[in-house]
Amino acid sequence: MFESGAEMRPIISILRRISQISDQFHFDGKENFRKEITTLLSQINCKTLEIQLPSTMPPLPVQVLCGNVYRNWSKFDSGIFAFPKTGDKLPLHDHPKMEGFIKIIKGKLLVTSFSLLDFDEERKVREENGEEKNQRIRPAKFQGTHLLDETSPEVICLNSTTGNIHSIESLDGVGAFFDLLIPGYDQFDGAVPCTYYQCNEQNPTVGKIYWLQIIPDSTLMGELKLPIIPNLD
Ligand SMILES: [Fe+2]
Repeated sequence: MFESGAEMRPIISILRRISQISDQFHFDGKENFRKEITTLLSQINCKTLEIQLPSTMPPLPVQVLCGNVYRNWSKFDSGIFAFPKTGDKLPLHDHPKMEGFIKIIKGKLLVTSFSLLDFDEERKVREENGEEKNQRIRPAKFQGTHLLDETSPEVICLNSTTGNIHSIESLDGVGAFFDLLIPGYDQFDGAVPCTYYQCNEQNPTVGKIYWLQIIPDSTLMGELKLPIIPNLD
């Protein structure tokens, strides 16, 4: 169990609590932990992370830079993703069986999300459309968009059932967000990879079901060099 410290760095304090919550995390449908994590992450910004991000970046051959904040604890993954310029984005992708949380720390971001259907619902939609065997497409319900500004304390929760498929796009120059996934990838021994999707509908309607095409991952990623937190002591 962790000791409390009077002069603890804010990010260490936040990550300690997240590690405690993650340690108790079970796939039991209880949602109480989401509220506390949302409150914790609302405090995260460049200042609490003790980092500085530039307002402009030179032309880079990548669409996104990413780096770990802390990764010695297999029960959660925490990282920062930074987009070098307007229009750079992470395309629609999922994190199966994981709870995802996004806190903007720089610029303006647009988060778009879809929810997968439950087993019976998906089977029904596939039967109705004669797509029972087509594994290159998946029906998903459009959840809408969130426009985030770096001054906003809002935390987006893309949980294991609602909004798990999401894209994130920078709308105003350099954009960045703190990303938390529970459980961490190590929990699955790499056996639960992301799937990438494409929605061909330009203006989807919230609550409607669309066929998403499964596409290969073609995102060009680079490394964001960060001072990784080695431990939470
Ligand atoms: Fe994601």
